Amino acid sequence: METKIFDVRDLNKENLEQSIIYDEAEANAKVDGALAKIDEAAAILANGGLVAFPTETVYGLGANALDPEAVAKIFEAKGRPSDNPLIVHIARASNIGELTPALTPKIIRLIDNFWPGPLTIVLKKKSSVPDITTGGLDTVAIRMPDDPVALELIKKAGCPIAAPSANISGRPSPTKGEHVVTDLDGKIDAILIGNDCRVGIESTVLDLTGDIPTILRPGILTAENIEAAMGEKVIMDPALNQRKENTEGEGDEELVPRAPGMKYTHYAPKAEMTIIEGQKDKVKSEIQRLKMLNERIGLKVGVILFEEKAFIEAAHEFFAKLRDMDDEGVDLILAGALSEQDGVGFAVMNRMMKSAGYNIAKV
Ligand code: TXA
Ligand code: MG
Repeated sequence: METKIFDVRDLNKENLEQSIIYDEAEANAKVDGALAKIDEAAAILANGGLVAFPTETVYGLGANALDPEAVAKIFEAKGRPSDNPLIVHIARASNIGELTPALTPKIIRLIDNFWPGPLTIVLKKKSSVPDITTGGLDTVAIRMPDDPVALELIKKAGCPIAAPSANISGRPSPTKGEHVVTDLDGKIDAILIGNDCRVGIESTVLDLTGDIPTILRPGILTAENIEAAMGEKVIMDPALNQRKENTEGEGDEELVPRAPGMKYTHYAPKAEMTIIEGQKDKVKSEIQRLKMLNERIGLKVGVILFEEKAFIEAAHEFFAKLRDMDDEGVDLILAGALSEQDGVGFAVMNRMMKSAGYNIAKV
């Protein structure tokens, strides 16, 4: 299949305004050019095709969420297990009524506070949402992304858009247009290249279908942020604190994550990856020691060591670093653990552990 690649970075006029030869009329013409490409991509979605697009978290691979045949193509292109439900993206909060039958004041408060933005909420689903979109669950995950290209695309498509991250299943999530081209060129109808993703890790997934709001996937919006807006306690899915890969049907003391996607090893770089955990100076010297040993036997070693407490930067850079190291042919990645029990550090550490297949060494 030939994939159309549309560069729509000009939609963000701020990008143009930074040029020393900025010209208002020229900039407007460029914005119109980008809008025309987004129109074309939206028509592809409306006709049952697949389009990858930028969001503020990671790039998404979209299809009409209400069209089972279109959604089936997402699973095929990504090689994604069919029991892993998709997030449905909308561009206007008022469109949420198409997807869920019940909006409580508490849900409305969350939407007012955090949309558009990196918060996905899991709600009871309407029967109009096909089973394939929700992996057979009676709930649906919904979010409104905070990216001008994404919002324009969804509005013009005129339907809610199911979109997982736009990577081949098991590869690191894409945070730049070029990552999507690497993984999906030739497999989908179109790729919209926009800005690099501001956040860099996927949205926080919050389940509101039970008695206590529960975070199923940690993200840049933390339990604390959500508690402040809701005025009530938010808990983490206990399975998130396991330090071991979870596969269904294993030992019965294992907890099965409530977000089906959280049970898969994810984000795996081609290199072997080990996380070194412990007191900061010890971690640093252990990484140096292991690096030297491995280089001595001819291996190429990559190091991921974020500044202490620089969790936002870590989120922004982590997936891109993994992909860069793959491109450089790194054999072994040594990563320093992030020390935070909750918050953004915890969210990045969750991705790090999955990337390393839960391979953690303590010093
Ligand atoms: O930031 C994001 O959320 C990105 C961008 C593209 O919006 N999307 C994304 O989608 O990360 P994906 O498919 O890679 O991850 C969706 C996660 C999975 O862990 C899935 O199991 C969970 O959300 N999920 C989706 N629907 C669910 C539901 N009804 N109940 C529980 N978990 C659900
Ligand atoms: Mg994903």
